[in-house]
Amino acid sequence: MLKSPITRLGGKSRLRKNIIEIIPEHTCYVELFFGAGWVYFGKEPSKVEVINDIDKELINLFKMMKYHAPEIERMLEYEFSGRDIFEEYKNVTIENLTEINRAVRFLYLITQSFAGRGNNYGYGSTRQPSQQIFHKEVLSAIKERLRNTYVENLSFEKIIDKYDSENSFFFCDPPYFETAGYGFEFGEKEHLLLRDKLSKLNGKFLLTINDHEKVREWYKDFNIRELEVNYTVSKEQKARGKYKELIIYNY
Ligand SMILES: C[S@@+](CC[C@H](N)C(=O)[O-])C[C@H]1O[C@@H](n2cnc3c(N)ncnc32)[C@H](O)[C@@H]1O
Repeated sequence: MLKSPITRLGGKSRLRKNIIEIIPEHTCYVELFFGAGWVYFGKEPSKVEVINDIDKELINLFKMMKYHAPEIERMLEYEFSGRDIFEEYKNVTIENLTEINRAVRFLYLITQSFAGRGNNYGYGSTRQPSQQIFHKEVLSAIKERLRNTYVENLSFEKIIDKYDSENSFFFCDPPYFETAGYGFEFGEKEHLLLRDKLSKLNGKFLLTINDHEKVREWYKDFNIRELEVNYTVSKEQKARGKYKELIIYNY
């Protein structure tokens, strides 16, 4: 199974086996909230594939890996972990950078920060600094994997409109309900829009979301499975522990 090249809050690295096992037959695989794309990178390629996220910098990274991998590789060859470089990348005006420079900057901030959040330089007394921020082999595997995939950067409802068909399968991993987000509004209004769109789908969907009374009510007409997940991505002990997560699907 391929690994994602980045970490992202809410990444499905632990749950992906459970999800991949129950993906139904389909021709077109659509991932609406790509993030680090753990499920996409873990599953077998489908005939047609679409990855989408509203985050412009994140999608730019995957686009540049797809189209300009050799140049990214060249730029990363001598890049190493350092607090001063991290701060410089963080504070740069991105409008002045090329798309390739922006991709390298994003990759640097994500891979060199605590929990991949890009805010604070990641260091510690029990871990070594990563000497090289990226390995050639990883980049070339990712590039190969992305070769036949449409890379989109729109809000989820537009992607549903564009790609829905009887043979489409949508994997949906939106920001959790009532938890810290990704800098994009995703409250009850957006969750209800997603529910309405999914309810009218011609294709199939699988949604992963935190266990919440309201969520159970919204999706009461669909199949709901409960899973217990261990979260460790937090500095605060109290924020670690077991949480229930729901897998909801219409097939
Ligand atoms: C829970 S994460 C996805 C994690 C991913 N499955 C993984 O394995 O890393 C949710 C993602 O939804 C994206 N997002 C937020 N609002 C969105 C919207 N309206 N349309 C599409 N993507 C959105 C965020 O940028 C974030 O990357």
